[in-house]
Amino acid sequence: MKVIVAFDHAGREAGRFLAEEMRREGHEVECVGPEDEAEADYPDVGAAAARRVAAGEFERGVFVCGSGLGMAIVANKVQGIRAAACANEYMAEMARRHNDANVLCIGGRVVGEGLAVAILRAFLRSEFDGGRHARRVAKIANVEGGRGGDVCR
Ligand code: RB5
Repeated sequence: MKVIVAFDHAGREAGRFLAEEMRREGHEVECVGPEDEAEADYPDVGAAAARRVAAGEFERGVFVCGSGLGMAIVANKVQGIRAAACANEYMAEMARRHNDANVLCIGGRVVGEGLAVAILRAFLRSEFDGGRHARRVAKIANVEGGRGGDVCR
């Protein structure tokens, strides 16, 4: 699978570690983020990487910052991105099966390496369930287009 790993300074170590894990497993991985200790603002790196996922250059994104939250917030501003900040395997599996998430966000300061890898594996191996979930995901796209969300029941 072609995956882009994006990280800021707080997610650099975990991001690089996860990138290596994926390379070992045969994935084609590109990393974007600071090379050294320099600070990088997550909205800059996250938006640029998210646009490349949305454009179809990568099948999935794995974005890492300190909490996983900033990356998720900014990535979800990009049309076509469904980014999920996940702190355990169940969330990562459901993000794929129910939400068809194309970007996984992880907090480098939240989870240790072992759990981060388990979350990543759950995200990469899980497929979208489709069916009723496809209807709901289509409604997300409607909201992106400024429609939908007008009926509460
Ligand atoms: C950087 O200190 C930190 O704020 C950032 O990595 C991220 O956690 C923001 O959501």
